[in-house]
Amino acid sequence: MICIVDFGSQTTHLIGRRIRDLGIDVAIVEPKDTLKRINKDKTRGIILSGGPASVYEKGAPTVSDKIFSLGIPVLGICYGWQLTAKLLGGKVIGGHREYGPTNVVIASKSALFKNVRAKEMTVWMSHGDEVVELPLGFDYHVSTPSVKAAGVGDFDRKIFGVQFHPEVEHTQEGKRILRNFVESVCGETVSEKKIRAQTLIDEIRTAINRKGKSVGAIAAVSGGVDSTVAAAIVARAIGKRFIPVFCDNGLMRTGTREEVRYIFSDLLQVDPVIIDCKREFLTALKGLTDPEKKRIAIGKLYIKIFEAEAKRHEGIAFLIQGTIYSDVIESQGTRHASKIKSHHNVGGLPSRMRFDLLEPNRNLYKDEVRELGRQLGLPPEVLSKQPFPGPGQAIRIIGEVTEERLARQQLADRIVLQVIREEGWYDRVFQSFPVMTGVRTTAVKGDGRVYGELVGLRVYDSSDIMTAGWTHLPYGILQKISSRIVNEVPDVSRVVYDITTKPPATMEWE
Ligand code: XMP
Repeated sequence: MICIVDFGSQTTHLIGRRIRDLGIDVAIVEPKDTLKRINKDKTRGIILSGGPASVYEKGAPTVSDKIFSLGIPVLGICYGWQLTAKLLGGKVIGGHREYGPTNVVIASKSALFKNVRAKEMTVWMSHGDEVVELPLGFDYHVSTPSVKAAGVGDFDRKIFGVQFHPEVEHTQEGKRILRNFVESVCGETVSEKKIRAQTLIDEIRTAINRKGKSVGAIAAVSGGVDSTVAAAIVARAIGKRFIPVFCDNGLMRTGTREEVRYIFSDLLQVDPVIIDCKREFLTALKGLTDPEKKRIAIGKLYIKIFEAEAKRHEGIAFLIQGTIYSDVIESQGTRHASKIKSHHNVGGLPSRMRFDLLEPNRNLYKDEVRELGRQLGLPPEVLSKQPFPGPGQAIRIIGEVTEERLARQQLADRIVLQVIREEGWYDRVFQSFPVMTGVRTTAVKGDGRVYGELVGLRVYDSSDIMTAGWTHLPYGILQKISSRIVNEVPDVSRVVYDITTKPPATMEWE
């Protein structure tokens, strides 16, 4: 087992994932708990993660320096390396800030760089501080033009440090470097393994059965990838003791209800409870124009309806949620991470509910969730679905949501998706949708004046949700979408294309 000490890096969990992918167990621990969590028989290595603090700041997270004399190999990454240097008598200063790719030169042999043939490679940096004096016993192995101590080590004590992030995708040979640490330095046996759906199914079954062989679980499902995969795992684990609930609030994409029925009844053989609540949602939204008020109204009503449904079922002890790891990071799941933003998820049901929470995907990245979905036999059209916000089309209709505007938005949405699919762009964009802007403009349709609504078209690429660029769709496709929307959607006069990046603009308009 490898113990990863979390100093709050956005990528701590990614270190864990890389190690786990090698078939080795990991424990991600709080700095203050490190000594307690190290098991002399089982812990074969310690990795100190990066983090947003500076080691010389007051209150910066630290670990006991005893970890360096346990005879267990240590690898410090970025902040973890700077802390290692400080604790062992080196010197760290606020230095040259570096974010993103940089070239390192491998200057001397190191166990960490075994089987790395290139003399130079691109690594990913993200730091403002730098180690300028090495602790006694350390040598320089890898340097960049601006950071001499980019890769260092003390072979005798088996303590290593890298200023860059080997865990991120963009660092060349990053996986090799981590593998070298666990295999060659820590002596672990590596057997590259994939996440297995069956393992998760067994774990969930055991967790639920521990409470009783007849207790059940309930989940709010939306037809989206995350809640579907979480639900599929539970359905496979406990069959009909699992109750998926779909609140058809009328604010989803058209066809969602039929998709949910198909996924659960046909594929997973567990009939979903479908609650028809469009009227209630439209009533709750009546007269509301402020985006936050709309979100809150939707969230509250959703929870009320779900709670009432849950009460109707006997013997339910667990609530299943489709939370994935990026949701956890965004809502600051670890103590030392910087807060990026609060996750505004309608699926986030209240903890006051009397159920135990089970989140089968909590430790997984999106691609791992999709891989699980494939193993569970979910079809590609379900697994490649665009993310869809909890408050649905309501936040894509600026101002008041009326039945008429909702119908127009859903029709325009169908057109956008249809064209994007036909033209082969569906898998190349992150999300694509129209927005009813509430602005009125003049048009002439069939010789008659129309003073109709302006539709904004938002199509963008993103890999991590935190940033996005607008998709450079070919003009022909934009033209096709615009013509079809103006021709086919009543009371629409014009279409404009949103060419704003995130940041500063968010993906959704509201
Ligand atoms: P923003 O607009 O914050 O969107 O840049 C980032 C991603 O989150 C989705 N989104 C939501 N998802 N509940 C959700 O479940 C919400 O309230 C919500 N608001 C935005 C959005 O579609 C995008 O994928």
